[in-house]
Amino acid sequence: MEKKIEEAYLRAQNFTANDLKELEQFRIDYLGKKGIITSLFNDFKSIPAAEKKKTGKLLNELKVYVQEKILENAEGLTKQSDYSTSFDLTLPANHLITGSRHPISMVRKEIIDIFSRIGFTISEGPEIEDDWHVFSALNFPEEHPARDMQDTFFISKNPDILLRTHTSSVQVRVMENNNPPIRTISPGRVFRNEAISARSHCIFHQIEGLYVDTEVSFADLKQTLEYFAKELFGVDTKIRLRPSFFPFTEPSGEMDVLCSCKGTGCRLCKYTGWLEVLGCGMVDPNVLTDCGIDPNKYTGFAFGLGIERIALLKYNIKDIRLYFENDVRFLNQFSSIV
Ligand code: DAH
Repeated sequence: MEKKIEEAYLRAQNFTANDLKELEQFRIDYLGKKGIITSLFNDFKSIPAAEKKKTGKLLNELKVYVQEKILENAEGLTKQSDYSTSFDLTLPANHLITGSRHPISMVRKEIIDIFSRIGFTISEGPEIEDDWHVFSALNFPEEHPARDMQDTFFISKNPDILLRTHTSSVQVRVMENNNPPIRTISPGRVFRNEAISARSHCIFHQIEGLYVDTEVSFADLKQTLEYFAKELFGVDTKIRLRPSFFPFTEPSGEMDVLCSCKGTGCRLCKYTGWLEVLGCGMVDPNVLTDCGIDPNKYTGFAFGLGIERIALLKYNIKDIRLYFENDVRFLNQFSSIV
């Protein structure tokens, strides 16, 4: 038995594979079901107990040696083939899979760029806010039904701490901390206690705009919004302003853009011909006063829009929930748009 092991060992020592086929044959000869080592292990069962220790050791050493020999040869052969046969410089490179921007990020960036071009800065505020910045300073009296327009998430039993329901809270912070002229937009996440459906979500994104200076008029607001709509939706875009109500602006309005059906009516505009895009108005003098700005000296306009809604219109997306599901089949569709 020991002699047989010795012979097998010597033969393995002298072996070098010229190609992968030879190496595979070597593996089968030694380690295969009917291979040398397998049959030696079978013979091992019937040798006298006294010899078992020594022979077993030799047999194991042989097995380890053969396994190492196979690895060693395989390494040599793959290196060889890398540099000779299969290295083809004319092959196209492996395709790199890159990610894409989320549609919300794309629209947010586009809107920021549009307003940056006419001198608006960017300001941010906290998502966890107090009652003052979200409601009271914006002329929502306590217990006033206007607060019901925005169903609020409260953080604790303390009704003063809440998740901001709109980014209008940032205009309060900006006015409290800066003197006019102020020209800023505030993008950010907002939260409302609303049932999730194709049209609404409890988390979404808004951009608030604020311009305060001497002699700012409704004409400035209208001109700014028209510029914005044409930049975002195309030069032929038509806008219209409808009267509306917000506690923090007086007068208040809502801006619609003419639908891509050109007013003939379609499903997107619910057959009205117009798409609602944002709320706006002249900053209420009470708000200016609350924020430490003299309403006799300064006037201002403000507007607020929902990014999800604009992206729905721009990319004809049917369901707002798609934005939050992280489904790559949805997200990949935006990879070609920069
Ligand atoms: N904050 C309002 C909302 O979330 C949007 C808005 C309307 C903002 C009119 C404004 C504005 O600044 O003037 O519904």
